[in-house]
Amino acid sequence: MKPRTQTCGQLRSSEVGQSVRLMGWVQRRRDHGSLIFIDLRDRTGLTQVVFNAERDAGVHQSGHALRPECVVAVDGVVVARPAESANVDLPTGEIEVLVDSVEMLNEAKTPPFQIEDDADVTEVLRLKYRYLDLRRPKMQRLLGLRHAVAQHVRAFLNAEGFLEVETPVLTKSTPEGARDYLVPSRVNPGSFYALPQSPQLFKQVLMSAGVDRYYQIARCFRDEDLRNDRQPEFTQIDLEMSFVDREQVMSLMERMITGVFRETGGIDLAPPFPRMTYAEAMGRYGSDKPDLRFGMPLHDMSDFAAKSAFKVFKDAVAQGGIVKALIVKGGASMARSRIDALGETAKSFGAKGLAWVKIAGEGQLESVIAKFLDARSLLAGLPDAAVGDLLLFGADKPAVVHDVLGRLRLQLGEELNLVDQKAWRPLWVVEFPLLDYDPEQKRYIFMHNPFAAPLDEDVAFLDTDPLKARAKAYDMILNGSEVGGGSIRNHRSGMQLRILDLLGIDKVQAQEKFGFLLEALEYGAPPHGGIAFGLDRLIMLLGGADSIRDVIAFPKTQKGQCPMTEAPSPVSAEQLKELSIKLDKIE
Ligand code: AMO
Ligand code: AMP
Repeated sequence: MKPRTQTCGQLRSSEVGQSVRLMGWVQRRRDHGSLIFIDLRDRTGLTQVVFNAERDAGVHQSGHALRPECVVAVDGVVVARPAESANVDLPTGEIEVLVDSVEMLNEAKTPPFQIEDDADVTEVLRLKYRYLDLRRPKMQRLLGLRHAVAQHVRAFLNAEGFLEVETPVLTKSTPEGARDYLVPSRVNPGSFYALPQSPQLFKQVLMSAGVDRYYQIARCFRDEDLRNDRQPEFTQIDLEMSFVDREQVMSLMERMITGVFRETGGIDLAPPFPRMTYAEAMGRYGSDKPDLRFGMPLHDMSDFAAKSAFKVFKDAVAQGGIVKALIVKGGASMARSRIDALGETAKSFGAKGLAWVKIAGEGQLESVIAKFLDARSLLAGLPDAAVGDLLLFGADKPAVVHDVLGRLRLQLGEELNLVDQKAWRPLWVVEFPLLDYDPEQKRYIFMHNPFAAPLDEDVAFLDTDPLKARAKAYDMILNGSEVGGGSIRNHRSGMQLRILDLLGIDKVQAQEKFGFLLEALEYGAPPHGGIAFGLDRLIMLLGGADSIRDVIAFPKTQKGQCPMTEAPSPVSAEQLKELSIKLDKIE
């Protein structure tokens, strides 16, 4: 086949007069009698090609046969478009190609939806015909962006002395907290591999192996409930470094992410990123990933509440809880029905109720609970509140109040258009607690992963008050999304075993689950730490995509299915037998 001379996005007025050969898909055909216009499309763009009956009646005739999405090669001459028909929105809009011959490279059935960015189509259909969906300019742009980000990350890390090392996909369970995907081993009947939830264990072993600086653009697998920013298989920019402290990891990563956003998105993240402790993030924003594109912080009203005559408030504080308030600027004009709806939302988030107060006038409260509250002392505790504002209160255990008001804050931020959609607000959240307490299981659980090291000054708490121990962990947050997280690890097996013990993982279990890592620590593992970024989430933010599925070439639906390949699917009885697997009855 004679090769093309240019792509469909390439021609400009400087090529006027040249003979060219283009190949691509027919985007659309406009029939103007003796003139047929076709937009020819490939990944790089569109070029208008013209079949003119006066130039060649036979070629013009063949133009009639070209239907959307068929693949053609055209030979012709580049001409300038008359000024009035130039298309300033199209990079190739100053020219068109007069066709002298056309060759059909492949026919196309009528596509189930139009190959256009604003085509009205369900997601399942898009995923079933993903090859058509990916032809759309927006999807091509996102694929290109993903490529650019990955290349930039590689170039940056290569220049910083990192080695790219691949780690196994058929492996043992990694403790990141989600359910594992399991793969049966045919040659070891009854035994299973687990797909890695992250390369965590291997990257630590690589540090013990003297690799010093490791990275991998790694596929991770987690069998968890899916959301708009979660996929069962997703990609991490995963790395680990030896002989470093938190500062070194964070400052290097800040440079990497700042560079990626500048080079691939023209976005200035304005380093250095602010730092916030976990305690501050939870206390002020009710979230460990605060969206700083708008204000509306939580105000602690516990002192006021304890002294108030409102039983709900008083009891909450007496029982060791807290009372916090959100100030909704100008919210006093909200209708009662709207406030009640917010109350219902709060309940759906786990609150027992949502007390509210309108500041109707100077020192004047309007509320069903106004009679229990002293306006002067309430407003003295809320210097940011003014006449016309609405106050919303949560009274409960700190975890409930923070979660409910934090989520309500985000919802109100959207509803009231408080979020500056053009802003980029990165931050580091640091000093996470090492452990959390699970009242259901009645035991400590890990906050990040079981390998994070405690802060040196908090080690003593491990014996006295483990929940007070903070970890050398850090999360990078961007516009309310957790884009990455990591920690300095326990490089001495003694400390690692001590923490596992607190988590209720005894020596025998530890040995069985990740004995190889514990052993690697005993053979001279260097101090080390690292981080992993969610590549998909970074692309979502950079590319302005609403769904993680738009930034993955072949994603899964909310039910974990792939409509194109129809995975997952049943397997034959022979396959199961080979794997020594018997199925329980499945409806
Ligand atoms: P973590 O579990 O926090 O850390 O994961 C790191 C980052 O990966 C992204 N992420 C996801 N993206 C899409 N879909 C998912 N289901 C999903 N789960 C996580 C997030 C998150 O910040 N081994 C540690 C890292 C380390 O300590 O070095 C780890 O995996 O953006
Ligand atoms: P009640 O005394 O139950 O009628 O509640 C009076 C007001 O307090 C209502 O607006 C409730 O929504 C609210 N309320 C009840 N429990 C709580 C709570 N735990 N936190 C905040 N507001 C509450």
